[in-house]
Order: sequence, then structure tokens, then C-alpha cells
Amino acid sequence: MIEKNISLKSSNTFGFDIQADLYAEIRDINTLLSIWKTNLLVQSSPLILGGGSNILFTDNYHGLVLRNSLLGKSVIQDAGDAVIVELAGGENWHQSVLWAIEQGFGGIENLSLIPGSVGAAPIQNIGAYGVELEQVFHQLHAFDFWEGKMVVLHHSECRFGYRDSLFKREGKGRYFITSVELKLHRNHVPNLSYGDIPKTLETMGIQNPGISDVSRAVIQIRQSKLPDPAVIGNCGSFFKNPVVPVSKYEELKVSYPEIRSFPVNTEVVKIPAAWLIESCNWKGFRRGDAGVHEKQALVLVNYGNAKGNEIRSLAFEIQESVNQRFGIELEMEVNIR
Ligand code: EPU
Repeated sequence: MIEKNISLKSSNTFGFDIQADLYAEIRDINTLLSIWKTNLLVQSSPLILGGGSNILFTDNYHGLVLRNSLLGKSVIQDAGDAVIVELAGGENWHQSVLWAIEQGFGGIENLSLIPGSVGAAPIQNIGAYGVELEQVFHQLHAFDFWEGKMVVLHHSECRFGYRDSLFKREGKGRYFITSVELKLHRNHVPNLSYGDIPKTLETMGIQNPGISDVSRAVIQIRQSKLPDPAVIGNCGSFFKNPVVPVSKYEELKVSYPEIRSFPVNTEVVKIPAAWLIESCNWKGFRRGDAGVHEKQALVLVNYGNAKGNEIRSLAFEIQESVNQRFGIELEMEVNIR
């Protein structure tokens, strides 16, 4: 059940060649219970890995890694238009999106091609092109390592925020997400609010887009900007887009009229971190095998043999220069271990 000194090179999308002292692949819930009954978790929580697409390892991992390999997709409630689907935590996120589209269920097509697993999706409250997971999230099932039993967590208990949830805060290390229930719709009206989507659909010659058209447009946009982790190691956006008071944004706009923003509410706006980083001349920067992607300044990349601490140092330097120039602190989205 538990293996020793296992390489995690193929289990993290930065492609760092590091090892876990202890490693177990979770294919059923009974295995979780057996692990909980050992004394391995007494001193520290396990590290739960899904697709490994949001983690930066700076060293070997001296603890227990649990890989979520639970599989299964099913419709558990069907009320005509609205359906509830249950997706096991180890399922690949993008394959699950394609499955939903095949069934004719809309709601997650804008989240096509996001790397990672279903179980990781609520942790990050993944989002893209105007949609966040919490908009379709119903509830989830998890093994609670503090209580040693299965629990159900409803939407409000998950405390979703922008790339944030209970699982990154008070619940960190506590839950192993075994499955996620989503509420999808057959008569779904596609969300085309994000500028790049209508533009792309137009170039594709599509007038009344359905969910599969939106998915294809999103795939096209992502492939044109974001590096494929199978080719160049990366974890998608490395930082969050900072949320700043409207007054701060107005102040910056005087010196930088080209600055863009996304509305949040009447008091704060989001500023594209990619723009801040690009303005500090980091876009396309490379030192050794660590770099800033040439088409998306928010994505840090490993061109081959970069070490985790080289990417981390680069991230610190970027944070520092953005802070010095704009007085804005960038918060990392990626987990550092
Ligand atoms: N921009 C630049 N330079 C760049 C790239 C973008 O100045 O190199 C500016 C442009 O003005 C552009 C704006 O930033 O209009 C926004 O860029 P983009 O649409 O690429 O989105 P983003 O804000 O950089 C966020 C998410 C992505 C998600 C996209 C699309 C975060 C941290 N990132 O990126 O999510 O795919 O929107 O919705 O919120 C991820 O979380 O890993 C991720 C990839």
C-alpha cells in the first residue's frame, strides 16, 4: 500500500525530478481508512496530489504523498433541465468537461483544458473565461483525516473565493476530496462574457454557439497563449490577479493610461498581474531553464532542468519589482513545498 522513495517527476507539471519519502496511490476509500489507522498521520498531514498542476517542489518531500486515483463519472439526479453529476476526485478535469459536453450538460465548457484533477478543482475554485467552479458546484464528498470518516461539504461550507477555498485555509491537509457533485443544465445558455470568446467564435465562423463550440473556442485560446505542460513545465498562472481599491487603480491610470482592469464591485477592481509583470519587462525572461513565458507573463516555466528554488527565486524577484514599481503585492497562486 505505501511505497518508499518514489519519484514525483511525472506527478508535477513543472516536471521537477524530486522524490517523496512515502507514497500511496488511492484507488478506493478503504485504503484511506487503512492509512488513517496507521500512525503515519499523527505528526503531519499527508500531501494530497491530484494532477500536480499547482505545486512547486523546492526539495524532496519528506512525508507521505497520497495520489488521488479515484475514478468514476455518473449522473446522480436528472430533473429534465437540471442534472447533478458526480465526478470522482482522481478523474482528469478536462476529460470530465468533455464528458459533460457529450452528455449535453452545460456549465463547465468555459473551464475546458484546465490541467489537473477533479479533486483539485474546488481547492483552487478553478476559473477561466468568466466562469468559476463555485457557480456550478453543488457539494463534495471527502475523507476527513481529523475525524477518520467520510463527510459531505455543501457549497457554503467550502468558503469559495477567487482561487481560494476552505481547503487552502482552515481545512488545509484535513480533507481528501473523493468526489465532487456539480449542477449542470441541458438548456444552458453559454457564458460569452469574456472578450476573447466572442472574438474567437467569430473567427471560427460560428454564430449561435452551443456548449461544444464554446469549449472549442476556449481550447483554441488556451492553446494559443498557454504552454502545454507536457511540452514545457508550468503551473498555469503563477500569481493571482491583485484586487485593489478603485482609487489605487485610478491613481495608476494617470501614469499608465493603458492599464486594464476587471470589475469586482464598486470598491475594488482586479488588475491583470500579467500586465504588471510585463510592464516590469519580465515577459520572455529566461535564466538557465527557469523563465517567464513569452506569450503569457503570468506563467513561469521550466524549460527542462530548472530546480524548484530557481523558479521560486524568480517569483520573488518578480514580486519585488512589481511592488517597487506599482506598490502592489502579488500573491502566489501556486503552492510551494
Ligand atoms: N496581459 C498582459 N500581458 C500578458 C498577458 C496578458 O498584459 O502577457 C493582459 C492583457 O491586457 C489581457 C489581460 O492581461 O487582456 C488578461 O489576460 P488573460 O485573458 O490571459 O487572463 P489572466 O488574467 O492573465 C486569468 C486566470 C487564468 C485564466 C484567464 C482567462 C488568474 C490568476 N488567472 O488570467 O487562469 O485562464 O484569466 O480567464 O486569475 C490559472 O489560474 O492557472 C489560469 C490560467
